[in-house]
Amino acid sequence: MNKFKVFLAGKKITLVVIDPADTKAVEKVMSFRNDPKLGCFIGRNFPFTAQRTVEDITGKDKVFLGIALGDEIIGFITLRRINLINGTGKLTVFLGEGNHRKGIGSEAVTLILWYAFNTLNLRKVNADVFAFNERSLRCFEKLGFRRQGVLEKEYFVDGQYHDDILLRIFKEEWLDYNATLD
Ligand SMILES: CC(C)(COP(=O)(O)OP(=O)(O)OC[C@H]1O[C@@H](n2cnc3c(N)ncnc32)[C@H](O)[C@@H]1OP(=O)(O)O)[C@@H](O)C(=O)NCCC(=O)NCCS
Repeated sequence: MNKFKVFLAGKKITLVVIDPADTKAVEKVMSFRNDPKLGCFIGRNFPFTAQRTVEDITGKDKVFLGIALGDEIIGFITLRRINLINGTGKLTVFLGEGNHRKGIGSEAVTLILWYAFNTLNLRKVNADVFAFNERSLRCFEKLGFRRQGVLEKEYFVDGQYHDDILLRIFKEEWLDYNATLD
């Protein structure tokens, strides 16, 4: 039994609706956003307050979901800049400490891609990953994302400028990729 409203159900995890009035859930998301160790992967700069977190959860043109393992929120996943004319959206995903490298990120991304392509009828999902984030690049690329460009020295993170790698997956590539899974 999951105490959150399940929006998409996977094998290990569920993607759940975060109620902005649920202060514990909001604080959890806030703690991911401010994480001193993992924040570098999502370009943490100014502190993420509760207000900023709620604005992010409830913002326009986006879907913001918690990643839940049983009754615990262990991360979040978002589709931002959803544009139903262009059929595009931008994906971000974050898992808290202790839940990496167990296939959870891949499952969460698979679920949100299914939703993006088969519910929102998007045709292309974009993502961007800092060049030093090899785990994230591997996670996206093994699910069928392809590199479409590099923004050189785009982000100042931990005292240095880093390249930002732009990735994308088209719906037909995703279907092709899934067909090769069997
Ligand atoms: C990126 C993230 C979502 C990936 O989720 P995850 O559950 O850890 O990843 P998975 O276990 O599904 O798969 C990761 C893949 O990367 C591989 N991997 C792990 N560490 C790696 C490394 N240092 N270098 C290269 N590949 C690596 C794994 O072997 C696995 O590939 P495989 O299935 O072929 O063996 C998660 O690690 C995370 O949230 N990290 C912190 C925040 C972040 O970086 N967010 C993304 C911002 S773009």
